[in-house]
Amino acid sequence: MNPPAIKVFILGAGRVGRAIGRAIVDQAARRQTPARNPSPTEASTAAPPSGDEADPAAPPSGDEADPAALYLIGAWNRTPAAALATAALLGVEITSGPPLPDLQAADLIIMSVPDDAIADLAARLAPLLTPDQILLHTSGSHPASTMASDAMRAHLGGVHPLQALADPHGDPDLLRGATFAVEGDPEAIDAARLVALAVGGNPVAIPSEAKVFYHAAAVVSANYITVLVDAARDLLAEAGVDARAGIQMLMPLLKGTLDNLQHLNDNPTDDPHDPGLRALSMALTGPVRRGDVGTVRRHLDAIDDLARRRPEAADLPALYRLLAARAAAIARRGDLPDDLADALDRALKRSKT
Ligand SMILES: NC(=O)c1ccc[n+]([C@@H]2O[C@H](COP(=O)([O-])OP(=O)(O)OC[C@H]3O[C@@H](n4cnc5c(N)ncnc54)[C@H](OP(=O)(O)O)[C@@H]3O)[C@@H](O)[C@H]2O)c1
Repeated sequence: MNPPAIKVFILGAGRVGRAIGRAIVDQAARRQTPARNPSPTEASTAAPPSGDEADPAAPPSGDEADPAALYLIGAWNRTPAAALATAALLGVEITSGPPLPDLQAADLIIMSVPDDAIADLAARLAPLLTPDQILLHTSGSHPASTMASDAMRAHLGGVHPLQALADPHGDPDLLRGATFAVEGDPEAIDAARLVALAVGGNPVAIPSEAKVFYHAAAVVSANYITVLVDAARDLLAEAGVDARAGIQMLMPLLKGTLDNLQHLNDNPTDDPHDPGLRALSMALTGPVRRGDVGTVRRHLDAIDDLARRRPEAADLPALYRLLAARAAAIARRGDLPDDLADALDRALKRSKT
């Protein structure tokens, strides 16, 4: 028996809807013509196999790495402009407008709309869905139960790509290798796993009640890097470097830090109980890691002075102190001697003048 063919419908043709849609179309194309890479338009013309009908391009049964074939059968968007542009990108029919599309033929519906629109759209969809269908949303913070209602009979779940998808065309390559948080009822989790695997991602189950922490972790690590670069830009402005040059100047430093983290995490050291934390302490560089208390004091003096002179930098002293205190705790777990770590703590606790 060949892997099951799952017919997918996407609601919401924004950045995530387009990326997942394009990735599904691409994997369908690879199945149909494994020897070459056809365009999305070519791929979309290939009809999904119906029922148990054999798919000649499908791999032999029992191939664990290839559990299911996903076929995009259509998409819908609230407004027509994005619908039109997405039709060209995906090569499938895409409708728009207040009337919702006919979803009868779909096994799996992926809803990629803003978090605050999920509950309303799910309530409108509920009467159209049957118990054998699966409805997934792509939010990282909301549990699947956000879509529940008395009228909802479909299986409910979430499939959240842990990736920053800013490309308006929805670059499918960004999904390859990304973690996908999967959550929901058992059938929905199975379907979410298949979506993640089909687009080249790594599914990871996250308990519904803990999703908010998972999402906060994504925000703290990815979104707030941009915030830190903004703070660094303020400091570089004092050194006469304009914003654009400043961001450019920081890039190799940022990338080097990420590469160090990746390398050290991939090669855990001697502590079998805490290899992840060890990687963090080894990837940390700079005056706190070295215990250069004098340098940290000079930073604090300069930043306190800057905050007095420029109101827009008023938050920098507190930001620097908070981050440096966290860095000192990491360094303490590494090889920073206690006396230096204590001296750092004292310097950081000194109130700003
Ligand atoms: N972007 C990311 O990096 C990322 C990553 C992972 C997960 N997510 C999650 O994925 C979901 C979609 O995010 P996105 O970045 O793709 O958003 P987006 O690019 O802003 O696209 C949102 C889509 O939802 C539609 N929409 C907006 N309000 C609606 C409503 N009230 N009813 C129906 N459709 C509506 C928009 O249609 P119009 O064209 O008519 O405005 C658009 O197609 C969110 O839950 C987000 O948290 C985002």
